[in-house]
Amino acid sequence: MSIISRVKGTQDFLELTVYNFIIDQFKTHVRSYHFTEIATPILEPVELFKRSLGPYTDVVTKEMFIINGGEHEEDGICLRPEATAPTMRAFIENSIQTVPWKVFSYGPMFRHERPQKGRYRQFHQINVEVIGSSAIAQDVQLITMLDRFFHEKLQLNNYALLLNFLGCPDDRLQYRDKLLIFLNSDAAADICETCKVRKEKNIMRIFDCKNPACQEMYRNAPRIADSLCEACEKEWAQVQEQLALLSVSHAYAPNLVRGLDYYNKTVFEFVSENLGAQNSFCGGGRYDQLASLLGAKEDQPSIGAAMGIERIMLLLEPTLDTLPLPQPPALQVIMPLSAAQQPLALLLADTLQAQNFCVEVLLEGDSMKSMMRKANKLGAAYALILGDEEQQNKTVMVKNMTTGEQEHVAQADVVGYLSK
Ligand code: HAM
Repeated sequence: MSIISRVKGTQDFLELTVYNFIIDQFKTHVRSYHFTEIATPILEPVELFKRSLGPYTDVVTKEMFIINGGEHEEDGICLRPEATAPTMRAFIENSIQTVPWKVFSYGPMFRHERPQKGRYRQFHQINVEVIGSSAIAQDVQLITMLDRFFHEKLQLNNYALLLNFLGCPDDRLQYRDKLLIFLNSDAAADICETCKVRKEKNIMRIFDCKNPACQEMYRNAPRIADSLCEACEKEWAQVQEQLALLSVSHAYAPNLVRGLDYYNKTVFEFVSENLGAQNSFCGGGRYDQLASLLGAKEDQPSIGAAMGIERIMLLLEPTLDTLPLPQPPALQVIMPLSAAQQPLALLLADTLQAQNFCVEVLLEGDSMKSMMRKANKLGAAYALILGDEEQQNKTVMVKNMTTGEQEHVAQADVVGYLSK
């Protein structure tokens, strides 16, 4: 029979030290900024994403994992492709009154993309949101918090923060007209077929085009940040000034629009050359109209971001030995020399485990020599050998695996001996 392989674009994580390190560091980090942890379901209504991300976005048109009914299921359920819309749904549905609601969550997201390095169909994000605050300084604080996390907690250096400002809905209406004039001009006569569709359906998304020739043409396109109303212009200046005040280096990226429709005003991405084509490891921005799109009575100005854990793991790979990764606990290996000592070995293990020692009992009935080899391979601190003699004398032969020294210790004293 053939073996069954994992689903395309998914991964088995067989070593979670770095994955957990990233999450644990983040949890500690955001505590200082007064965020609390939430968890929302992996299953959500398809409608949630159609309304929030936009009906013409890649995620909604091409990448949704929709669970098609079956007799037990209601229609229109999908695996969540992101966590911002679910967080806003939870905010509205649970009638959260205390704003700003500062929350974070993490877990798997699902997008039916073409898999490649750093791009998966099931991937993992840490997601952070501030719901119910229009203060532009909130944007600055969130971005600063992320920058400090990458730089100080994960010791990442080789990355850049790209920043743009998409203005308010009125700004974008006016800007769309300017952009359309540009796209209808000779300067943009050769745009690709995808961009032609985007021009009709969702004009600002032309900037997400991966085609280098299109990108070259768009260098001369009008810039949204040059088309802002007075109030937005002021806020855009404030974001940049305050980031500078906090020494958060950033670069203006006039064509950064982000692939999801709910954004307005501040948008940003953290990118790194070390990642190759999928160079963005964290992205976010303001989404002031999302609450009303999802049926709330009033708007909730909000800002948030999500980082891809797999991409951060790729970035950390070259510097893993400089990170304060948690060390595995010292391992004690118990070796019953025959089946007759196995129950005693279990009892001894039980006593040690109750005192939080990390214990492996070798129960495969191997020879002493091969058990020693195994213990070495496992990196044991001590080997605890139980043979006929030890069983009769109520002792254990304790071998220090580093020095090779060994001595008989009374079974009742083993905990004390190993605790020294
Ligand atoms: P996003 O830019 O679609 O934004 O995703 C955020 C991050 O998730 C990306 O920068 C990337 O690191 C990671 N990511 C996305 N797709 C994949 C994939 N297929 N494979 C591996 N990693 C991936 C959002 O999801 C927004 N919800 C962010 C946000 C939060 N905006 C406001 N609040």
